[in-house]
Amino acid sequence: METPVIEKSNWKIEVLSDLEALSLRAASIFVSASRNSIAKRKRFAVAISGGSTPRRLYTLLGSEAYRNQVDWQYVHFFWADERCVPKDDEASNFRTAFDPLLSKIALPDKNIHRIRGEEGPDKAARDYEGEIRRFFGESERRGFDLIILGVGEDGHTASLFPSSKSLEETVRLAIPVYLEEPGKNRVTLTLSVLSNADQILFLVVGASKAAVLSEILGEKEKKKGFPAGLICPVHGNMTWLIDQEAAGKLGG
Ligand code: 6PG
Repeated sequence: METPVIEKSNWKIEVLSDLEALSLRAASIFVSASRNSIAKRKRFAVAISGGSTPRRLYTLLGSEAYRNQVDWQYVHFFWADERCVPKDDEASNFRTAFDPLLSKIALPDKNIHRIRGEEGPDKAARDYEGEIRRFFGESERRGFDLIILGVGEDGHTASLFPSSKSLEETVRLAIPVYLEEPGKNRVTLTLSVLSNADQILFLVVGASKAAVLSEILGEKEKKKGFPAGLICPVHGNMTWLIDQEAAGKLGG
C-alpha cells in the first residue's frame, strides 16, 4: 500500500501503518540526510529526542543492516532536550540513544554533545548553549542538519510545555525548564533553534496522540496552545511521520 502523503509548501505529513513502518521510514530519512550533509558540509549535526517513540529507530540505526550505511565519523549527536538526571539513569535521553545506538557504532567521543543534566538545569543549559555556539561558530547560522522530535498528549515537544514562559525565549539557544514535580527539571532547546533546522522530523504513534495531532495539524488558530504546533521551519522543511492510530482524527 502506498503511504498517504499530505504536502504543503515546506512541510508534509506521511501516514505509516505502524511503529515499525514509521521507524524504517525514519531510518531511511536519517541515512539520506546524513549523506547529503556530509557531501555538502563534511558533517552531519543531528539533535535527537527521548521518549518511547524513537527507541525503535535508534535500535534500527544501531543494527547491522543500518550501521554501515552511515559514515559515523562525521556525525555529531546533540539532544533536543534532557532530564536533569545522571547519564546512566533510565530517564536519561542520552541513555535512550546510547544503549541501542551510540554504544554500537564507531562514533568518536568528541562527536557526542550531550546535555549534562546531572549538573542541574541552569549550569547544564548554559554549558550546552556554549557547546552549540562553539560547534557552529558565531558567524554561521546555528542550524542543525536534522532534528528529531516527538509530541506529548498535551502538545509539548522537546521540553517545551504548553503555557510555559520558555515559549517566549528568543535569544538563548538552550534553557532550563523547572517542573513542579521535584527532581523533574529539564533542559531544552528553544523554539527558534528547533525551527532553524534544515530538516525537522516529528515521529508520532498511538491513538492517545490522535486528538492533539488533529489540533496541531489542523486549522492555524488552533495550533497556538501547543508547542509542537509552534515549530515552523524558517528555511528548511518539516516532515511528520505518523502511524495510522495517531492519524485517526486527521482531516475529520
Ligand atoms: C522526552 C522528549 C519529549 C517526547 C514526547 C513524546 O524526553 O520525553 O523529548 O518531548 O518526545 O514526550 O514522547 P513519546 O515518544 O514517549 O510519546
